[in-house]
Amino acid sequence: MPERIPLARPSWTDEMRQAAINTLDSGRWVKGPQGRAFAEEFANYCGVAYASPCNSGSGALIAALRLLGIGPGDEVIVPSLTFIATATSVSMTGATPIFAEVEPDFWCLDVEDVKKRITSKTKGVIGVHLFGQCYTTDLIDLCQEHHLALIEDAAQAHGASIVHKGATTMAGALGTISCFSFFPSKNVAVGGEGGMITSVDAEIGARIKSIVDHGRDGSLQSQEVGTNMRMSEVFASIGRKQLMHLDSWLTKRRSIATKFSDVLDANAHLHAPSIRSNSNHAWHQFCIQTTSAKQFIEHMNNHDIDSRLIYPIPCHHHPVYADHPQSKEVFSTTQRLCRELVAIPVHHGLTEDEVERILEAIRSYS
Ligand SMILES: Cc1ncc(COP(=O)(O)O)c(C=O)c1O
Repeated sequence: MPERIPLARPSWTDEMRQAAINTLDSGRWVKGPQGRAFAEEFANYCGVAYASPCNSGSGALIAALRLLGIGPGDEVIVPSLTFIATATSVSMTGATPIFAEVEPDFWCLDVEDVKKRITSKTKGVIGVHLFGQCYTTDLIDLCQEHHLALIEDAAQAHGASIVHKGATTMAGALGTISCFSFFPSKNVAVGGEGGMITSVDAEIGARIKSIVDHGRDGSLQSQEVGTNMRMSEVFASIGRKQLMHLDSWLTKRRSIATKFSDVLDANAHLHAPSIRSNSNHAWHQFCIQTTSAKQFIEHMNNHDIDSRLIYPIPCHHHPVYADHPQSKEVFSTTQRLCRELVAIPVHHGLTEDEVERILEAIRSYS
């Protein structure tokens, strides 16, 4: 009986195990050379000047908002189709998330809808590269035009890129400040919880390390309110090893995604994700759009393949936002996608046999 195919399978190799042991043996478990090197290597990968590892993607978002001075009385526009942390990070600072619609084809923030929601209280927009696909560069231009901070939620997009103003630009360099997650299912993981903040902005860069370390400067004086959101040295040493494989893992994810899309093109009931032109998808998730989600999930289950409705509830309908002014607002595209987007395994750990089993399951669905 072949093993059930999971939606995620974190990579764990001898070199990663050895890196973790070496770090533990060194006795330097926090605030050391591994974290500093991980920050530098990750910044280089994204093509930015500044980076700081931190304790999670959610922590990265909260730290980013605080770095921008966002707090009570401010509004930040967010998509309603995303992981809840995109919205709750805004609430955690005392500011108000303002929900906006997503594009029907690429599923990222709809710029025309964002425009309508800008008020005198709007301080920023959090754009999400959903499932590993970059948001439209029109969002960057809109934020620049309105002098709004653009917080890039790149939690799902390590290695994604898009052409902006003629230059291929990596996720992590597509906002005022950017946030990554190293949750175990992500394209890069660290053996536990973790995140990274990156920025191209020198003023933010000067504070990017201290914000996750009690707001302290080099002489250990606290210059602003912060807390301990640091990453452990062990996690940083594992993350460094994972980062070295990211490009080859992305090549594999992209080749699997192309195979899935080719087979889906022949199926009347299932739709492959659309890819934005001039962009490189990082395929954190491969979501099939279907009006028969329940039957399709059952079908995959019968083939011993995990799949699930990716975001069954739009963020503004979660109980935490029951008193939010938009809690009853209808977002027709977002709400349809919540019913129709089913994630199937696309991770780089899939074997050739497993890819074949998934393709066969898709082919046999009618
Ligand atoms: C879009 C998005 N934002 C934020 C987060 C939060 O990251 P973490 O789980 O590392 O706190 C996630 C993680 O799933 C995410 O997918």
